[in-house]
Amino acid sequence: MNAAIRAVVRASLYHNLSVTGVLRGYEGLIQGDFIPMEGKSVANIIQRGGTILKTARSKAFRTIEGRKIAHKNLLDQNIDALIVIGGDGTFTGADIFSKEFNFPVIGLPGTIDNDLAGTDFTIGYDTAINTVVNAVDKIRDTAESHDRIFLVEVMGRDSGLIALRSGIGVGAEAIMIPEAHMGVDDLITRIENGRKDKASKIIIVAEGDEAGGAYVVGEALKSKFPNSDIRISVLGHIQRGGKPSCMDRVLASRFGVAAVEGLLMGKTDVMVGQINREIVFTPFSQAIKHIDAQEITPAWLRLVEILSL
Ligand code: F6P
Repeated sequence: MNAAIRAVVRASLYHNLSVTGVLRGYEGLIQGDFIPMEGKSVANIIQRGGTILKTARSKAFRTIEGRKIAHKNLLDQNIDALIVIGGDGTFTGADIFSKEFNFPVIGLPGTIDNDLAGTDFTIGYDTAINTVVNAVDKIRDTAESHDRIFLVEVMGRDSGLIALRSGIGVGAEAIMIPEAHMGVDDLITRIENGRKDKASKIIIVAEGDEAGGAYVVGEALKSKFPNSDIRISVLGHIQRGGKPSCMDRVLASRFGVAAVEGLLMGKTDVMVGQINREIVFTPFSQAIKHIDAQEITPAWLRLVEILSL
């Protein structure tokens, strides 16, 4: 997100616009937490994880009263357009707000889950899957040396996209994602039918998988395979932090500039994205219907099938 903030500030200054930072997202908009931004404010941040502007979940912004205060605060600051970075929740709020007050808003897709339509990739996804790959490569050493089965749970509350790519990247023996509807029984069958010459296995489980997560799957495997050494590892929030990858820095930089230039072109109520290497603008209402665009196709599932076990 810092690379995106930097790009928004630098592009605004390039176009002789003044920029104000809002601290803690919509919550800060309501509280009036504004800070002036200059070229220097965003120096030396492109390589840092998190966001210098901080973030928060805002209950108040879900109410019309809260949004009215936010709107008044923007007008009081002479702010005439808003750029937001986030995912589903952020864009749902942005969509309502821009329509309610006829206020120009452009969004940048920032979520490690990659579960938005209107862009091939969201800011943070590449870094997150690389973090998973680095962590699981290390776990693999113990799995292999001790002939253990590891269930590694990765993030993705509503989507298996982190599990899918990182699972392929680490050569997982199985990947459990909500989109594939593979139950524990299927997993057991696959293990039973799998290679007999390899006792160690890495099974990637998406947090949002229907089976109920790595601990639930782990218990089922332990009772089915009492002689196997089965371990569980939940990677958690390490996936949401750390130095962004170069791909993420460049994507965020490109999106930040496109957002500013999109506003100057009169675009509003849209999310900036990149599809087939081109910048595109998608209405918020379409971007948050993530199921269609980021569908895990049968071809992906076939790939997993061919490569695993
Ligand atoms: O942004 C979505 C997400 O990455 C989910 O995959 C995960 O469940 C969630 O964030 C964790 O968020 P929090 O730290 O608020 O629990």
